[in-house]
Amino acid sequence: MTEPAHQKRKRPPTASFVVVANRLPVDRVENPDGTTTWRTSPGGLVAAFQPVMHRHGGAWVGWPGAPGEELEPFVDNGLQLVPVTLSARELEEYYEGFSNATLWPLYHDVIAHPEFRREWWDAYVEVNDRFAERAAGVAEQGATVWVQDYQLQLVPHMLRERRPDLRIGFFLHIPFPPTELFNQLPWRLPILRGLLGADLVGFQLPGGAQNFIRLVRTRLNLETRRDRIQTVDRRTVMAAAYPIAIDAKAMHELALRPETEERAKEIRHNLGDPQTLFLGVDRLDYTKGLPERIRAFGELFAEGLIDPERVAFVQVATPSRERVEQYRQLRDDIDRLVGRINGDLGRLGRPPITYLHTSFPQTEMAALYRAADIMVVTPLRDGMNLVAKEFVACRTEDQGALVLSEFAGAAYELRQAYLVNPYDIDGLKERVLDAMNDSPRNHVRRMKALRRQVFENDIDKWANSFLTDLEQPAPEEGT
Ligand code: F6P
Repeated sequence: MTEPAHQKRKRPPTASFVVVANRLPVDRVENPDGTTTWRTSPGGLVAAFQPVMHRHGGAWVGWPGAPGEELEPFVDNGLQLVPVTLSARELEEYYEGFSNATLWPLYHDVIAHPEFRREWWDAYVEVNDRFAERAAGVAEQGATVWVQDYQLQLVPHMLRERRPDLRIGFFLHIPFPPTELFNQLPWRLPILRGLLGADLVGFQLPGGAQNFIRLVRTRLNLETRRDRIQTVDRRTVMAAAYPIAIDAKAMHELALRPETEERAKEIRHNLGDPQTLFLGVDRLDYTKGLPERIRAFGELFAEGLIDPERVAFVQVATPSRERVEQYRQLRDDIDRLVGRINGDLGRLGRPPITYLHTSFPQTEMAALYRAADIMVVTPLRDGMNLVAKEFVACRTEDQGALVLSEFAGAAYELRQAYLVNPYDIDGLKERVLDAMNDSPRNHVRRMKALRRQVFENDIDKWANSFLTDLEQPAPEEGT
């Protein structure tokens, strides 16, 4: 669509609930003919937060996805959106640089080498300050402001300096690294101080919260007691785990629609009605373990352990951060790997691997989840991985199986998945075969348990538990 008609230009709104995230839920895209379109932003954060915002109302402060856009606040799909402008240089230094070539690899176990560049840090400070300023202008007196993710770790402190009346929460969607890795960061102290501006700092897993508490104790000499930290300005900050969830009911309902079922059948048919359909869905990111997974499938096909006449593997890789060198390299590597396997093992109209470098709307995703038999989610490191939970929510008949990396945050809760170490290619192959050859009875037993987990711990419960803890007054010292 071109400039959407349903958007009304508005005066800057104020709100009692404000979410601050690097991206708005919609990205503004320039078309070659000069027109602009809006599309849903990529990634788990937006998928998880849309329903939270629709339930709570309020304003969403974020970047509209293209450089140099000076946009007024507007309303889209019932949400108040407050754009923050980033110049092309800031995009390069703050987003592609410090956020995605320094913090991202450092926080994901240095799977790729993090680069430490002082000019990137300067841009990170500058842009975080702009987000804080924007949020300070939007929040009503005494409002709750919930800051999201690694791109904005300085915002809690910067915001508190401007607006001590606010209740400030912070949630980190990616892993918080072990102290040995975090300590490599030349700017470790300002990052810790930035986060401590919040009243509540949330992590995906208890290990992340413990790493953070240990760091503030050892690096900032602050007093800590269980999940509480005493700051120098005598505030109490809580640091705890809140594993993020999905809108399980909405996914389930989407999967149940007759048109989804129709489309699922069509997908299987187009793939030659395989006996078993494996599916992978990831952002094209080096943390997702795609080369390892594709190599494992290539070997399984080549060794005759799975039969390309009866088994198909579909891998969807959503384009991501395409100007960052490591991501370009990864794309080339995967193109080559898939090309070689299909070239060696495919026959006319029947490639063993169907590789799609694209993104799909949620309706098509639900159809893919329904069409598949076995979902393969094997990141080398992942904060949570909501795709794994979405797949489970779409298994309306309790069938199929999930092969899941031990290093995805989701493995902490989804214990009935076929868990695997994705670095171990032989182990990965074995696990894929285990999942494929297990009895339907075992599949149903495991899937029922997974579904119970996903439905009992949905996105509303997650948001409510974070926001309830955030609203609680800090306990008196000594209690
Ligand atoms: O979960 C990490 C994250 O950066 C989210 O903030 C975002 O949803 C997703 O990855 C996509 O990344 P980007 O906004 O860089 O495209």
